[in-house]
Amino acid sequence: MRLHVNSLLLLTLTLTNNVIFAKYEPNWKSLDTRPLPTWFDKAKIGIFLHWGVFSVPSVRSEWFWWDWKDDPSAEVTNYMKDNFPPGFSYQEFAKDFTAEFFNATQWAHIFAKSGAKYVILTSKHHEGFTNWPSAYSFSWNAKDIGPHRDLVGELGDAVRKAGIKYGLYHSLFEWFNPMWLADKANRFKTQSFVDNKMIPEMKELVNKYQPSVIWSDGDWEANDTYFKSTEFLAWLYNESPNKDEVVVNDRWGAGIPCHHGDYYTCKDKYDPGVLQEKKWENAMTLDKSSWGFRRNAKLSDYLTPIELLTLLARTVSCGGNILINVGPTKEGTISPIFEERLTQLGNWLGINGEAIYSSQPWTSQNDSLNSNVWYTSRDTAVYAINLVWPESNTVELASVVDLFKNPVTTVSLLGNEGKLKWVINSDRVEIQFPDKATVKSETAWVLKIVSPNKKGNCRL
Ligand SMILES: *[C@@H]1O[C@H](CO)[C@@H](O)[C@H](O)[C@H]1NC(C)=O
Ligand SMILES: *[C@@H]1O[C@H](CO)[C@@H](O)[C@H](O)[C@H]1NC(C)=O
Ligand SMILES: *[C@@H]1O[C@H](CO)[C@@H](O)[C@H](O)[C@H]1NC(C)=O
Repeated sequence: MRLHVNSLLLLTLTLTNNVIFAKYEPNWKSLDTRPLPTWFDKAKIGIFLHWGVFSVPSVRSEWFWWDWKDDPSAEVTNYMKDNFPPGFSYQEFAKDFTAEFFNATQWAHIFAKSGAKYVILTSKHHEGFTNWPSAYSFSWNAKDIGPHRDLVGELGDAVRKAGIKYGLYHSLFEWFNPMWLADKANRFKTQSFVDNKMIPEMKELVNKYQPSVIWSDGDWEANDTYFKSTEFLAWLYNESPNKDEVVVNDRWGAGIPCHHGDYYTCKDKYDPGVLQEKKWENAMTLDKSSWGFRRNAKLSDYLTPIELLTLLARTVSCGGNILINVGPTKEGTISPIFEERLTQLGNWLGINGEAIYSSQPWTSQNDSLNSNVWYTSRDTAVYAINLVWPESNTVELASVVDLFKNPVTTVSLLGNEGKLKWVINSDRVEIQFPDKATVKSETAWVLKIVSPNKKGNCRL
């Protein structure tokens, strides 16, 4: 009997302890102990969508309103002067955010074909317009004006049906929200905007759509104390309906990016080119000068397929994910130039995906002799991503020479039958590529090296 009571006590203590230790506290020391949900590192490739009222003018960038009213650019002010009557307001653009051709299933098919494993939509950019019928954004949301639809909900359903994770971008601040401006005028000693708008809206977003990623932004003007970021994240990690799966970035207040969060984005288009200890993401754009759609973009403004694959290889080699931005149109279409790039990416991944998905950084990131070659690794294989076809069909690599000191090492080219010939020549190995006419990949060719000398990976 006595023993029984003791075991019961022990059991109770254990349970209580588990409960205590499973709880994250609202401070970075505690929040930073959370392990990264494993799906995120394996996914490697996401698609970013910048869509909102800024997609209506679709000139210059998604910062159109700011570049018109707060920090005027000639491109925007001239466009407004030449095409709109005096007194026209930014809010008047909202009724032309029609989205009449928006078919979320079609978008999801395009994304699935691209090989991306997650999609992140702007639920609300700095303009404050919510792409869902938010109770905290009266009349300035996609249900009350413009599309008259719940864009966040429709896309989420379709993307998840296609087997892709669904995340939401959310801007903490809003350029011209009077509550934000009042708090700012009080040097952020008051938190009216945070208490009445930002936090309730974020909880609404999480409870309603259960995003797999929260891609926070718009954090640089005030600190994380003002935004109550750690309180929100403790709630998200402890109590939210998607607490086990959700992943957040690092933009939670001035000084926080690159220091706290489940993974780091540091700055836009972050691309360190060397291995990082912490999981990170390169959020970049296919249109080199804008995240939002631009009607006047030229072909040369878009990344070429090899430019995109170069960024992908470098990013994944260095432990990052790549988040590829597409700007949909106000009519709800994805323009064919974006669809083409995404399709080309998907075709490449269909042949070479095993070098990317679920891969880990290897001990070298790029070859010490040949800077056109980036490495990844997985199980017993090291993958060498060749961004250019080698001269005389022979590539010389130095960083992998130890692998070839074991004669049972084999090397093949993904998408091509058979093993390749190789020979060690002092400090380097020379690998004979097949006839270019026989290989499937049109660009960026991946060697798969399987060797008993492989010593593991660089673990993140
Ligand atoms: C949306 O696209 C899908 C796939 O092409 C199609 O089956 C469906 O009928 C479309 N829905 C509407 C409302 O047009
Ligand atoms: C954050 O901002 C508030 C308001 O400006 C200020 O009172 C507080 O000292 C700041 N906290 C830190 C840690 O800098
Ligand atoms: C590649 O690796 C070498 C070291 O082997 C390094 O010095 C160089 O900066 C790396 N990056 C690029 C882009 O070549």
